[in-house]
Amino acid sequence: MKEKLRSQGWFGKKGKDGFIYRSWMKNQGIPDYEFRDKPVIGICNTWSELTPCNAHFRELAESIKRGISEAGGFPVEFPVMSLGETLIKPTAMLYRNLASMDVEESIRANPLDGVVLMCGCDKTTPSLVMGACSVNIPTLVVSGGPMLTGKFKGRDIGTSDVWRFDQAARSGEITDEEFREAEASMGRSRGHCAVMGTASTMASMVESLGLSLPGNAAIPAVDARRKVLAQMSGIRIVEMVKENMLLSDVLTRKAFENAIITNAAIGGSTNFIIHLLAIAGRMGVDLKLEDFDKLSANVPFIANLQPSGKYFIEDLYYAGGLPAVMKELHQFLHKEIITVNGKTVAENYANAECYNRNIIATTDKPFNPLSGAAILKGNLCENGAVMKPSAASPHLLKHSGKAVVFEDIDDYKNRIDLPDLDVDENSVLVLKNVGPIGYPGMPEVGNMGLPKKLLSKGITDMVRISDGRMSGTGFGTVILHASPEAALGGNFAIIKTGDTIHLDVANRSLTLEVSDEEIQKRKKSWKPIHKKYDRGYVKLYQEHVQQASLGADMDFLIGGSGSEVSRDSH
Ligand code: FES
Repeated sequence: MKEKLRSQGWFGKKGKDGFIYRSWMKNQGIPDYEFRDKPVIGICNTWSELTPCNAHFRELAESIKRGISEAGGFPVEFPVMSLGETLIKPTAMLYRNLASMDVEESIRANPLDGVVLMCGCDKTTPSLVMGACSVNIPTLVVSGGPMLTGKFKGRDIGTSDVWRFDQAARSGEITDEEFREAEASMGRSRGHCAVMGTASTMASMVESLGLSLPGNAAIPAVDARRKVLAQMSGIRIVEMVKENMLLSDVLTRKAFENAIITNAAIGGSTNFIIHLLAIAGRMGVDLKLEDFDKLSANVPFIANLQPSGKYFIEDLYYAGGLPAVMKELHQFLHKEIITVNGKTVAENYANAECYNRNIIATTDKPFNPLSGAAILKGNLCENGAVMKPSAASPHLLKHSGKAVVFEDIDDYKNRIDLPDLDVDENSVLVLKNVGPIGYPGMPEVGNMGLPKKLLSKGITDMVRISDGRMSGTGFGTVILHASPEAALGGNFAIIKTGDTIHLDVANRSLTLEVSDEEIQKRKKSWKPIHKKYDRGYVKLYQEHVQQASLGADMDFLIGGSGSEVSRDSH
C-alpha cells in the first residue's frame, strides 16, 4: 500500500480544514470511520436521460459501490458531462474534448485515490479515458453493455439497419408506419448500439488495452452478469489503489498495439483511430496514424459482426466474448503485458473458449483476410485519410471516377436528390467542410446517402470522400478524415466537380488528377467558407483543435498534469 492515500490530503487533515472537508461530507449521513485511511474511489458516472445508451448507469453504479465497500473502500459517485450520440447537436464529437476537461479537472480537484469510469455511448468512453489519462491515478473502466439485438418482422436488426431503412423509405420500399415500427423494434432494451459500432468498438478498446476486467466488451446491458462485472470491478479498483497501479502502468505502447490489432480483427469503427490517437497523446505514448495500417496489415477479420459482418454484440458474448477473440489472436498480441486486474493478457484469455465458429473464426479461416483501417495517402489528402476496407464494396477498392463536389453539408442536402444532378454510379461524391474546424466538430456524415435517382436504379454503394467521420455502424466505400480538412485550404479544399479521382486501396493511394500548377493556382484564389464562432467553447475549440490525423484533441490538452494539487481551498 502506498504510504499515504491521496484522499488523506483532505480527510486526514487536522484543524479547520479537516473539519470542513469531513463535516460537509457527513451531512450525507456518512460515518466518521469512512474518512480514516480508506481508499476513496470515485465513480465517474455519465448517467443521463439525454444519453439513452447510459440511462441505466445509476443502477449499475450501485453494483460498483457494493464492490468498493466490500473491499474496504469508500465509494463516491459524481457526474460528468455526458455525451448522447443521438440527441446532441451539431455532433457529440464537438464536445468530446470539453467532457474530457470536465473529467480531468473533476478527478484531480477531488479527494480521490482511484476512479471507476462508467462509459457507454460512443464519446463517453474516449472523453473519460482521455481526462483520466491526464491525471494518472489508479483507474478502471466499466462499460454499460450493448442493447439486445433488435427484432423486426422476424429479422434481427441493429443500428446499421438505420441506413438501410432510410434508403428503403426514400426509395418507397417501406411505408412511414413501418419505418416508425422499426424504431421501436430496434431500441427495445437498455444499452448502447448492438453492433460493432463506435460504442462497442470503444468497449472492446478498453478491454484490449487492459483497462477493464475481461469480458467487459460484450455482456449485454440487461444481462445480470453485467452487474457482477461491475461489482468485481469495484473490488478490484480498491486493490489497485493498494498496489498503486497507475493508468500509465497499463497504458504502455504495447497495450496500444494490442488494441489496434484487436480492433482490426473485430472490424471496429474508424472512430477508433481518432480516439486512440487522442488517448495516446494524453498518455505521452508515441502513436502515429500509419501505425494503424502497419500493425493491422496481417491481421484477419475474425469476428463476424455488423457492420462488416452479420451478427450482433449479444451473439459475440454468447460465442465467448472478446477474450475468445483475443485468444485467437495470440500470435499477434503482446501477451505478457499487465492489465488492470493484475494479470497478463494471456492469463486473462487462458480459459476463454469459442462456442460458435459462425461468429468467431480462427485466424487460419477468417471471414475476410482484409481487416482494420487502410490509411490512404496522396495529393488529395497530404496528411492522410482513412477507410475501412472490410466495410467497402470489393469492386470499388480500385476505382477512378469524376468528382461530384458538395462544398458543405447544406450544399449536399440541397442538391443530392435533384433530378438533373450530373452523377452516375462511377462518380466520386466529395463532401467538404465537415471536418473538426469546418463543421465544426467533425460529424458522422461521411457515409452520405446516395442520390435518389441512383438508389432507384438499385445502386447501393459509391466511393464517397469527406473530411468528416462516419458512424461506426455505417458501411460502404467511404473515405473519411481527409486531412488537412477543407477549412484549412489544403488540396482537399480545391477539388472541383469534374476532377478525376483515383482510389487504389491495395496501394493505399488516393490521388487527384490535377497538375501541381493547377493546384497552386486554385489555392491562390481559395477562400474559407465555414462559419467562425466568436465566443464560448466552440471558439476555443475552433482555435485549438488539431487535425483528425493527430486525434482531434485540442493542442493545449495534449499530455497530462498529474494528480498533484498545489494549493488548498481554505
Ligand atoms: Fe449511443 Fe450508438 S447511439 S452507442
